[in-house]
Amino acid sequence: MPEISARSRSAPSSPIRRLYPLAREAKRKGKHVYHLNIGQPDIPTPQSYLSGVRQADIDVLSYAPSPGLEVALEALAGYYGRWNIPLHEEELLVTTGGSEAITFALNIACDPGDRVLIPEPFYPNYRGYAQLTNVEVTPITTEREDGFHLPSSQDIERLIDRRSRALLFSHPGNPTGVVYSEAELERLVELALRHDLFIIADEVYREFVYEGTHRSLMSFPEAADRVILVDSISKRFSACGARIGVFASKNKQVMQEANKCATIRLSAPTFGQLGLASFLADPHYAEVIEGMIGEYRHRRAVLCDALESVPGITFRRPEGAFYIMIGLPVTDAEDFVGWMLTDFPGEETVMLAPGEGFYATPGKGCDEARMAYVLQEQNLLSAVAALEHGLELYNATQKTAANT
Ligand SMILES: Cc1ncc(COP(=O)(O)O)c(C=O)c1O
Repeated sequence: MPEISARSRSAPSSPIRRLYPLAREAKRKGKHVYHLNIGQPDIPTPQSYLSGVRQADIDVLSYAPSPGLEVALEALAGYYGRWNIPLHEEELLVTTGGSEAITFALNIACDPGDRVLIPEPFYPNYRGYAQLTNVEVTPITTEREDGFHLPSSQDIERLIDRRSRALLFSHPGNPTGVVYSEAELERLVELALRHDLFIIADEVYREFVYEGTHRSLMSFPEAADRVILVDSISKRFSACGARIGVFASKNKQVMQEANKCATIRLSAPTFGQLGLASFLADPHYAEVIEGMIGEYRHRRAVLCDALESVPGITFRRPEGAFYIMIGLPVTDAEDFVGWMLTDFPGEETVMLAPGEGFYATPGKGCDEARMAYVLQEQNLLSAVAALEHGLELYNATQKTAANT
């Protein structure tokens, strides 16, 4: 057999999905698994989105134009205008999920061997995309005790070298739920200007903010030529399977390159774009999103209150998105997460995403896990009850093993 490339072999698999076979096996044995490992919301996709797909008057399901269907681009420009992010249609591209927008951005900002700075813990697929484009990740380490807010400009500056090309971050943050303050965003912009870096701003959780306010990186005129906006309807419209995202930039040259990438992959899904246009034409769409935000705010409170009473778990309340990164009273979170699926004796168990894969720095995150509060209140409470019981039993088993 021909040899598989080193690049492919060295790309990490997602820590969010890696332990799925264990969950599948647990379910096969009749166990109920609460999936808090993945950001798959249980909130129904809006009716006006689905009706746009169901009522599509299509004889031939043809390719959409590479930049996106006209109706989708128009709808998106209107949506961004409402958020005070003035974007013309030619400054936007519809992509196959935010995922594709990230790959376009890395390809446009970096050559092989270049470096991208990413605050860690980060969305693990950033590392996968970087590796597949031969780009190195320089982690900017942030700490749980600081609510994963950024270190000083000097600390970040020390990490920048002549191969650094871009800053990439999700804001609000996955897995941290961090929402950067105005001052932090200004510092990032200043650093990007001083060191001539692109800013790849992944704002796929834009509306999901529970404390403070969200400022889009698109609203810094001094950085307009270097900001690339990555967006997605997956979470905010509860339409993960639509595979619709957005790539946006005010920089004409960047858009020219992005359009080239778009033609290479032909087009984004047609049905997903029709749904998007239909939802954004719904005069009540903002209220639908408000309803989702209210639900996540409530779930955040339920989950955090429940976690507060679990001995040994440490965290700071996340400010946005729908994730929380918790410290666990174990030394090997991956082993514990696996044990909850293979050995925990209860009839129901919980699956978390082990923390290590959210970091590029070796050894970081071994005692952490990410939880996604994407399930209803009662399910979250049952999941935390299983977690608490599991921690007790697991640590007792560890002690017994150490003493024998
Ligand atoms: C921060 C972040 N960016 C991008 C994505 C990818 O989103 P999409 O489903 O649009 O590809 C995700 C998905 O979880 C995410 O959390």
